[in-house]
Amino acid sequence: MRKLWGGRFEKATNKLVEKYTASIEFDQRLAIEDIEGSLAHAQMLGECGIIPVEDVKKIQAGLKTIKEKIQNDEVAFTIENEDIHMNIEKLLIDEIGPVGGKLHTGRSRNDQVATDMHLFLKRKIEEMILLLEAVQQAIVSQAKEHVETIVPGYTHLQRAQPISFAHNILAYFWMFQRDKERLAESLKRVNMLPLGAGALAGTTFPIDRSRVAQLLGFEDIYPNSLDAVSDRDFILEFLSNASILMMHISRLSEEMIIWSSQEFQFIELDDSFCTGSSIMPQKKNPDVPELLRAKTGRVYGNLLGLLTVLKGLPLAYNKDMQEDKEGMFDTLDTLEGALLLLAPMIETMKVKQERMKQAVTEDYSNATDIADYLVNKGLPFREAHEVIGKLVLFGIQQNKYLLQLSLEEFKGFSPLFEEDVFTVLQPENVVNARNSYGGTAFTEVEKQIVLSESKMK
Ligand code: ARG
Repeated sequence: MRKLWGGRFEKATNKLVEKYTASIEFDQRLAIEDIEGSLAHAQMLGECGIIPVEDVKKIQAGLKTIKEKIQNDEVAFTIENEDIHMNIEKLLIDEIGPVGGKLHTGRSRNDQVATDMHLFLKRKIEEMILLLEAVQQAIVSQAKEHVETIVPGYTHLQRAQPISFAHNILAYFWMFQRDKERLAESLKRVNMLPLGAGALAGTTFPIDRSRVAQLLGFEDIYPNSLDAVSDRDFILEFLSNASILMMHISRLSEEMIIWSSQEFQFIELDDSFCTGSSIMPQKKNPDVPELLRAKTGRVYGNLLGLLTVLKGLPLAYNKDMQEDKEGMFDTLDTLEGALLLLAPMIETMKVKQERMKQAVTEDYSNATDIADYLVNKGLPFREAHEVIGKLVLFGIQQNKYLLQLSLEEFKGFSPLFEEDVFTVLQPENVVNARNSYGGTAFTEVEKQIVLSESKMK
């Protein structure tokens, strides 16, 4: 088959080379964006008098027919035509005849592919932001139910201080909020038009790049043609933001796995989000959060992959850049799948309040509070820390929690202890005492919920 670029060649392309260099198998996902880019380009060519308006009409009608055919699954792309750009150009020429060959005036596949990627990613990032917000909604709806549900808070996975369960899960709300902001902020660099850069140096035709930008909804135009065709930072940025987001998803998944274990039993995931074992009849496995945790690996891999592809590339376009696509698609698909599952999984999880309540009475996580208690009575904090440390050790040896000790036993460690120490030690009071801004006191958590709701549409 004759190539669109065949003029200079005396021999046909080796079949293996054809297969190896083709990207149509994966870049056909850019078909719609490619056609939109071409429609705008053709429109501008006509308006600038570069090609006759009648030809533009034929080209645009042809492109629309091809778009419909693609949407109805009526076209067969071929690796002989290498990539989505040449496949569509070939389909156009087959559809409307040689006039279709005028479409590529004043442009190159280099600025064309970059434009397609910008258009595609812009839409996808906007979608991701919405999906992410659905996860935030699910978190807030659980938080609203559990402001007064007290659960052990951990550091080093050791019981630290009791906290509101709403406060606990809202921590993830704020991680996702930063992810959302990062994605939204990055759009400014995705929303830039490379088209008009030509192969690398611009074009001899009197094109109007602003008009194309306007037609395609781009807010800005690459000011340097070399940069326009060789920049893949906008993809790297997405992959990097996606990696941070996936890391957050993985951490939350890990919590859900731990919380739903027999040892913790703080939550129970809905049956519809778990799977069983082929041998052990009693098993209910948290496969979904496990896979979410694991899929973080491929998202990081896609980032590292592209960083490595780009390092050391000279200006401007190099075929290496074709390798920007599969990783980006894979990360988008992985993320979309993760966010779609995460929201309902959070929404449907059962929070075992009784079990959490029991947990906070069976530990020494109220120890800080009676250190603070002694401080309020005038003891320097460091000394109070020492006193309570000894007291905790005594409790452990006696097999008693702090609330089970008698006032006499307390007084044995410091004469400053009085009856009110038992009030201070109550988990609910421990939580509510932390009423500094951003703390876990119920009143603060309520304020936090109001704030978090203001961050969503
Ligand atoms: N399929 C190519 C890619 O994805 C399109 C650009 C090809 N340009 C070229 N000069 N070979 O990067």
